[in-house]
Amino acid sequence: MKAVFIRKFGGNEVLEFGERPQPQIRTREVLVRVRAAAVNPRDWMVRSGTYPFRFTLPRFPIVLGGDFAGEVVATGSAVRHFSVGQSVYGMQRAFGGFGAFAQFIAVHESVLAAIPGNLDMEHAAAVPLAALTAWQGLHADARLVPGEKVLVNGAAGGVGSFAVQFAAVAGARVTGVCSARNVQFVRGLGAEEIIDYGRHSFTGGERQWDVIYDAIGKESWAGCRTLLPPGGRYVTTVPKGADIVANIATALSAVLFPRGRRCRLVLVRSDGSDLEAISRLIETGHVRVHVDEVLPLESVAEALDRSRTFHTRGKLVLRVP
Ligand SMILES: NC(=O)c1ccc[n+]([C@@H]2O[C@H](COP(=O)([O-])OP(=O)(O)OC[C@H]3O[C@@H](n4cnc5c(N)ncnc54)[C@H](OP(=O)(O)O)[C@@H]3O)[C@@H](O)[C@H]2O)c1
Repeated sequence: MKAVFIRKFGGNEVLEFGERPQPQIRTREVLVRVRAAAVNPRDWMVRSGTYPFRFTLPRFPIVLGGDFAGEVVATGSAVRHFSVGQSVYGMQRAFGGFGAFAQFIAVHESVLAAIPGNLDMEHAAAVPLAALTAWQGLHADARLVPGEKVLVNGAAGGVGSFAVQFAAVAGARVTGVCSARNVQFVRGLGAEEIIDYGRHSFTGGERQWDVIYDAIGKESWAGCRTLLPPGGRYVTTVPKGADIVANIATALSAVLFPRGRRCRLVLVRSDGSDLEAISRLIETGHVRVHVDEVLPLESVAEALDRSRTFHTRGKLVLRVP
């Protein structure tokens, strides 16, 4: 099969576009013929060797890519929920898994969901990792309650664009932080209020939010804790050392002070049932998927370079031949 893979860490010069053996499936696994794969920041982090969970990577050669959409072409003997011919999407499991920038991927059935009927393959591939990060961060980590005030930092990106929509759909009053060029885009996602970070810092005033969802990691617990009322939560997708300490400290102090402020770290989990909940919101038109650009798989170097700028609006997607 055709695939994008690396035999060592480095810049774009280590990317190879060539032939790799088709993966074999185990009993609970499904073989998917990949039609589209999304680009995430972790793809270029893996390529360069800067992925924080590098110790979990499979051995070289590593086929890159985590998010995929395609059709089921074979199922293991114990697979119960999927059958050949079905259109599915998902995120390869976070630890040890990659392999979506290829014509075929073998995945455990628990990471899959059926593609919403109103999405094509490119838009479906754009969903899993970013949407699961937003969903789990707001619901499992922040435990968002309807009517709360939520600020999303990095609101125009892959994770942020889903976080704004999920928070709004959950009945929150959303403030989105983005650059001037994305103001209308983020308003269209459901943010009641926009802060253009080029003009104002959201940490500068007296305002408070029940949940601060830092989808881009440009802030920190130290910079945000005074912006939280009692019971407020700072949730980050890019924790720094002090955030990790604060996560533990605020979890311990919650035993004595249940209305204390909390620092939470998101570590996205590949989960087909969360993806099904997200699918329902997409199918009913409550959440839309924004694809910035679709490029052919051969243009993976260009796509990784664009992702590295951290100025993608929505998602970048690769079309797999
Ligand atoms: N912990 C986890 O499990 C997990 C999971 C997924 C992602 N992540 C991490 O989360 C981060 C975001 O991922 P992503 O996929 O959403 O990235 P992305 O799609 O590249 O998002 C970039 C967005 O960030 C915005 N941005 C850039 N600089 C900003 C600033 N100073 N203030 C506010 N917004 C700014 C950009 O908007 P403008 O163009 O308007 O500036 C752009 O829309 C990455 O570091 C990624 O590695 C972690």
